[in-house]
Amino acid sequence: MRTQVAIIGGGPAGLLLSQILDLKGIRSVILERKSREYVLGRIRAGVLEQGLADMLRAAGVGDRMDREGQIHEGTDIAFAGKRHRIDFAGLTGGETVMVYGQTEVTHDLYDARDALGGSIIDEAKNVEINGIDTHTPSVVYEKDGQIHTLHCDFIAGCDGSHGVCRTSIPADIRREYEKVYPFGWLGVLSETPPVSRELIYNHHPEGFALCSMRSNSLSRYYVQVPREEKIDDWGDERFWEMLKRRLPEEISASLVTGPSIEKSIAPLRSFVSEPLSYGRLFLAGDAGHIVPPTGAKGLNLAASDVHYLSDALISYYRTNDEDLLRRYSETALKRVWKATRFSWWMTTLLHHFPENEGFGDRIQQTELEYLFSSKAAQTVLAENYVGLPYEPS
Ligand code: APR
Ligand code: PHB
Repeated sequence: MRTQVAIIGGGPAGLLLSQILDLKGIRSVILERKSREYVLGRIRAGVLEQGLADMLRAAGVGDRMDREGQIHEGTDIAFAGKRHRIDFAGLTGGETVMVYGQTEVTHDLYDARDALGGSIIDEAKNVEINGIDTHTPSVVYEKDGQIHTLHCDFIAGCDGSHGVCRTSIPADIRREYEKVYPFGWLGVLSETPPVSRELIYNHHPEGFALCSMRSNSLSRYYVQVPREEKIDDWGDERFWEMLKRRLPEEISASLVTGPSIEKSIAPLRSFVSEPLSYGRLFLAGDAGHIVPPTGAKGLNLAASDVHYLSDALISYYRTNDEDLLRRYSETALKRVWKATRFSWWMTTLLHHFPENEGFGDRIQQTELEYLFSSKAAQTVLAENYVGLPYEPS
């Protein structure tokens, strides 16, 4: 088999890259380890920056998002029992975010790939990438017991945080930066009306809580829990009690609880691997970096990597010029690090850090009080949350 771009991973990064390339006449094949049902069963975040929403529209994948998604012009941050609003639109000259589940984005991308006859090979096992330091790379994989070789010009590593592409970059060239947080997020999806029209990020001495949603009848809630917590120890009642304790009175009083239809614990960490390319291998999305979910940047960073990588590949196939490809890593990492900083800052601002007792707690409280006393401070939060511009390559 032969294609132009072999894409490892059929999550949002791989699917969006494949769709954008296809619309420019560039052939790709996606090799996905799991079944399509498994991929579509993942519950992930749900806040899209304007840049991602525009990319989906330009790729012909924005119709259902525009019909069913919700435009949010701000968010609430609650601390010391009171809620305050960050007015995205007012502080950024009209910029907003789109609330639309990543599961739905992935669904829409699969539908779009099918409509264009895109090649997605799911349940592709034991993927091995070869020859990335040559002009004739290839991918070997197993499907239905048969071994296949896919020859290509380039390999896009969109295989997430547990993939094989990042570690194919030689260890003596790779630099990894990591910060592990001493807690995780216990998340619940429930068929209940959201407690508020917009999201509410709650700082509480016991720990962080987030009120989010997927639609007017589907709510998504999270509470900070110690890293070692086990999901089996968390019945729905225990979850709802903890959430209510962490919300301001007026919010917990109007919280509608119900049975969880999904419940999981995710650890929080910041991680960036440099460089994002080596020879003919290019990493995009979680394959190259991980952010804590506090700033809702995971999916949006996958999109910005795909924005730069697709531009570079389109330029190459148009002009045979590899300049943008050569500069992809440096260009993409600039935005990755700014989103990594913001996600770390939001996490540090809003979570309870046991080791922070005393001085750290007072600094956090002062940071929150300053945030709501300063339009400049709120503007910094707003412009990062709605998404910094995609700087030209
Ligand atoms: N071979 C083939 N596919 C693989 C392999 C492999 N060795 N390893 C992983 N994969 C697949 C996974 O099954 C997954 O479907 O790669 C895909 C990677 O998708 P994501 O993990 O969703 O990563 P990405 O597309 O970068 O999207 C980032 O997804 O996980 C969230 O929080 C993350 O919101 C962020 C977004
Ligand atoms: C979500 O709805 O899952 C969500 C929203 C905002 C975040 C993280 C997760 O910061």
